[in-house]
Amino acid sequence: MGIDNSLKVDIGGGLQLKNPIMTASGTFGYGSEFADYLDLQRLGGIVVKGISLQPRPGNPPPRIVETSCGMLNAIGLENVGVENFSSAKMPFLRKIGTPVIVNILGDSIEEYSELAEKLNVIEGISAIEVNISCPNVKKGGVAFGTDPVMVKKVTESVKARTSLPVIIKLSPNVTDITATARAAEDGGADTISLINTLMGIAIDHRTRRPKLANIIGGLSGPAIKPVALRMVWQVANAVKIPVIGIGGIMSTEDALEFMVAGASAVQVGTANLVDPDTAERIIDGIGDFVEELGCQSIQEIVGTLRTD
Ligand SMILES: Cc1cc2nc3c(=O)[nH]c(=O)nc-3n(C[C@H](O)[C@H](O)[C@H](O)COP(=O)(O)O)c2cc1C
Repeated sequence: MGIDNSLKVDIGGGLQLKNPIMTASGTFGYGSEFADYLDLQRLGGIVVKGISLQPRPGNPPPRIVETSCGMLNAIGLENVGVENFSSAKMPFLRKIGTPVIVNILGDSIEEYSELAEKLNVIEGISAIEVNISCPNVKKGGVAFGTDPVMVKKVTESVKARTSLPVIIKLSPNVTDITATARAAEDGGADTISLINTLMGIAIDHRTRRPKLANIIGGLSGPAIKPVALRMVWQVANAVKIPVIGIGGIMSTEDALEFMVAGASAVQVGTANLVDPDTAERIIDGIGDFVEELGCQSIQEIVGTLRTD
């Protein structure tokens, strides 16, 4: 299938995608796990599972529980570490022909910046997405993403150590999402993506125990879509850099709603665990929508929410 120019989008830092549909970090493994279910080459981008400097085992089970219209997860950022990622996962990913975006996590500013430097010299990476919803061990475990001063510092230190486009992925567990968005922009971020999961708990009333071993988990899926749409709209109106929308996208209509709210592109997360070919179906749906509208480019609908 040839490239359809009407679906191309610019997401900042000079990065152009063949269409606005990416897969979200942690819900799509390292790509190869989904090769039997959809054509990976058709995706606008693949965001891989969050990578840290050293491999991490994650939390003990149970780590996932279904909730009304969504799920809670407390995977605990299990991953293979940057060296194994480079040697064992990148050879497959770089052959696909789809931009690979590497999500990174750390428990100190130094860890984020060291990761940025290491990824800078690995061939075949198109951008870095920085997960700032992680506890800052040196500051008593408060998540980086809840403090605008920290968000700016992490952004600056990552930008200083890489020439790749840098996407800052915001945490929704804040009072004012525009404050952390502006801090990321001030720190030099090329793009902002949002939202990560919302913190929640599931309880078994008979055993009176939490359903997750970690007690608290991250809520995702359709349950969070209205919150995500609100935050994307607020952030798109607060910053000049491109925004990527994430949160409960299950259908073409969901993806288009995020674009109307101001997202230049979107990521599909929990839906991959329900129907592994969701992203490809949404790409087809967006193509049909552009044809139906008779517009030159899907970019024409970005940020067109009418509020008058
Ligand atoms: C099982 C699971 C693992 C996740 N792991 C990561 C991760 O490693 N890094 C990250 O930035 N976000 C991670 N996320 C968050 C998703 O990328 C996404 O931001 C969130 O789930 C909201 O989108 P959704 O409702 O479409 O799933 C994870 C989500 C789930 C469900």
